[in-house]
Amino acid sequence: MDRILIRGGSRLQGEVQVSGAKNAALPIMAATILCDEPVTLENVPNLVDIDSMERILCCFGIETKREVGGIFRVEPKTLRWFEAPYDLVRKMRASFFVLGPLVAKSGQARVSMPGGCAIGRRPVDIHIKALEKLGVEIAVSHGYVEAHGLELRGAEIVLDFPSVGATENVLMAATLAKGESVIRNAAREPEVSDLANFLVAMGAKIEGIGTDVLHVQGVQSLSGGAYRVIPDRIEAETFMVAGAMTGGDVTITDATPDHCTSVIEKLRQIGARLDVTDGKIRVQGPDEFKPVEVSTMPYPGFPTDSQAQLMALLTIAKGTSIVKETIFENRFMHVSELVRLGADITIDGNCAIVKGVPNLSGSPIMASDLRASAALILAGLIARGETEVLRVYHLDRGYEHIEAKLSALGANVERFRRGQ
Ligand code: EPZ
Repeated sequence: MDRILIRGGSRLQGEVQVSGAKNAALPIMAATILCDEPVTLENVPNLVDIDSMERILCCFGIETKREVGGIFRVEPKTLRWFEAPYDLVRKMRASFFVLGPLVAKSGQARVSMPGGCAIGRRPVDIHIKALEKLGVEIAVSHGYVEAHGLELRGAEIVLDFPSVGATENVLMAATLAKGESVIRNAAREPEVSDLANFLVAMGAKIEGIGTDVLHVQGVQSLSGGAYRVIPDRIEAETFMVAGAMTGGDVTITDATPDHCTSVIEKLRQIGARLDVTDGKIRVQGPDEFKPVEVSTMPYPGFPTDSQAQLMALLTIAKGTSIVKETIFENRFMHVSELVRLGADITIDGNCAIVKGVPNLSGSPIMASDLRASAALILAGLIARGETEVLRVYHLDRGYEHIEAKLSALGANVERFRRGQ
């Protein structure tokens, strides 16, 4: 397994360009199942999770082609198979997002239950209830969801929780259902809006994009065309935290500042200076960090996907911070590893109490999930001495060349391939 070695102490300086949003590209790739004509996606990041979704699409007989510069081409074919197998779905939960488009397009689907992961049980009950409202018949057996629905019909759907994936699954299915659907308590994440904008570009009729009530007028078919995926707000926020916590001066380009407002505000509360001009976010880190209280919330609240990264910064704040995780039941896997670096963190239920310490000290640590891995890399940037992060394959799922981007900002970061 690859590992990353970081020698702490560098103040990051310079510009960094974020890649396309993983969590927008994945549902949009699934949505190409609905299209009758070729689709060209731009700004698709080169990530392991994107590879996984491509393999899933190929299972159905869809032809795909990846080109340099983030181009992803899809040639829809008559779907020949309708099963997303366990060995692919277990690697990436987002594979489950093919259920809605597959059954809407072909009337049938057999998709493995995604199973849990490091951050929680991650059930799919909200997805299933929403699709059943559209007339999809669903049975779960032997770890697979068997779905049938030759003629989906529009319905009023109220989600128990603004689940990102459930909103995306049912939104995709509703575009080809007969009649109007209304999806209430819909997730408002920018990635959900990006999917909706893609569907509209392909001929879907959707109103209320960006709000928690989506109105969908079913259409006969979706065409094809070109679409550019939005920038990755979580990657942008990761670099914002990196620039702040190293006391550096980092400008993030090609981001969408409006998608990052809660993290920008929280970093300002901590004492960093953030200027937003012409779509660029400039972060200047303070010499001292104020402690804060932060609770993760559905968008536009503070994103759960940036919680671990902010916690890494709070380990050296001047005082005690409280980090409350309200979205997932087990998203503190990074805490024990930060403590190995000398952080003073105790967990009380879904809260982490982070008492600031003067500094962290380098040590070998273990990554456990995607965003926890990013937090450990950031902690290594400020720890004294060397920090070795193991199991960095977690990182490759969601960050494109993060060590190269950090090195270009002046970080002392080196990746060692397995066996080196
Ligand atoms: C998406 O996951 C993102 N993944 C996650 O990013 C992100 O953390 C999450 O949304 C929340 O913002 C992708 O978009 C590919 P949810 P998703 O359904 O859709 C519970 C990353 O690091 N729930 O909004 O799976 C669930 O257990 C990843 O990039 C149900 O109970 O998240 C969780 O507690 C990690 N039943 C909460 O809702 C359901 O049917 C939010 O989950 C569905 C969800």
